[in-house]
Amino acid sequence: MDPSTDAASADAVAERLFGAVLGTVDLMSTFLGDRLGWYRSLADDGPATPPELAKRTGTDTRYAREWLEQQAVTGLLHLDSDGAADERVFSIPPGTAEVLTNQHSLNFMAPVGRMFGAVGPALPQLLEAYRTGDGVSWNELGDHAREGQADANRPWFEHRLADALAGVEDLHGQLSRSGTRVLDVGCGGGWSSIALSRAYPTAAIHGIDIDAPSVAMATENAQAAGVADRVRFSHGDAAELPADQYDVAFAFECVHDMPRPVDVLAAVRKSLAPGAPLIVMDEAVAESFAPDGDELERMMYGFSLFVCLPDGRSSSPSVATGTVMRPARLGQYAEAAGFTEFEVLPITDFSFFRFYQIR
Ligand SMILES: C[S@@+](CC[C@H](N)C(=O)[O-])C[C@H]1O[C@@H](n2cnc3c(N)ncnc32)[C@H](O)[C@@H]1O
Repeated sequence: MDPSTDAASADAVAERLFGAVLGTVDLMSTFLGDRLGWYRSLADDGPATPPELAKRTGTDTRYAREWLEQQAVTGLLHLDSDGAADERVFSIPPGTAEVLTNQHSLNFMAPVGRMFGAVGPALPQLLEAYRTGDGVSWNELGDHAREGQADANRPWFEHRLADALAGVEDLHGQLSRSGTRVLDVGCGGGWSSIALSRAYPTAAIHGIDIDAPSVAMATENAQAAGVADRVRFSHGDAAELPADQYDVAFAFECVHDMPRPVDVLAAVRKSLAPGAPLIVMDEAVAESFAPDGDELERMMYGFSLFVCLPDGRSSSPSVATGTVMRPARLGQYAEAAGFTEFEVLPITDFSFFRFYQIR
């Protein structure tokens, strides 16, 4: 039977999309609660009525009430005591507080709301780009996306990067050498560079990013973290790096965003000492396309539709990689950039990522 005429199948699709609507409402409501400081206030200052929460956060009482009620209805917040609408007291359970306010937790999910919140205002541009083949740049997505990206990877760098690298003997040895020069390409908010500097305090770390506000954010983060003496950031295109500068290079979740990744990889190769490695961390997608993919594959196509492919196409010419950069594709880029060795490192259970070593 043609599946499109199968009533049961249509019911299943409708039910599935209805679930997605509820999920979308949850995610977009977390965007409000995160960006308006509502979760933070409930976590730091305790339970609140709608007028109390509005006063504490400088927001509107009627909207705060609607959001608090919606959050209790969907089960993310707890109703502590009932009463007239503006006298109801709401609190944040520990699980919700961790997931939506603790930027050090591996469970921190507020960044995902920020990322899709950033996509909202860009939808008209995205529609136009889908018609014309143009793009929507990272800069156009703005601070919600920037801060979402930085905070999404931050806890993984903070908690897992040192151990992951310590398990790769040669690399660990090189990074541990006093004065070793490390490049962090596409450093974003700088949390990878900061984590590297903590794991390898004698290393000199240089983060570079083409997005000026990200560089400013990284600089501030390094100062606040007390590592500004050994981590520096600069604004620029990694395709224009000077030669023979570094002993190890990293590219954390950025190669798939680049319009011309081969140019960047070639410049990184020349900027490395002979035989020195480039470590690429990128999405751990499947080796090849197949329908009915797992959650990771579905998630990465989601980011690709709304963020990474349009970003990659926002500058021309572009190879238009998208978030779903399969290992063979990266291997081709590396070879075209003049690298001759390509391997997947035995680093597993690191968020959505796979690590590659390229020489
Ligand atoms: C998805 S973000 C990843 C940021 C950071 N590495 C992290 O893991 O959070 C990709 C970053 O690559 C940067 N980028 C893209 N092309 C670049 C280029 N040619 N040179 C330097 N940075 C670039 C973007 O500005 C953006 O900050």
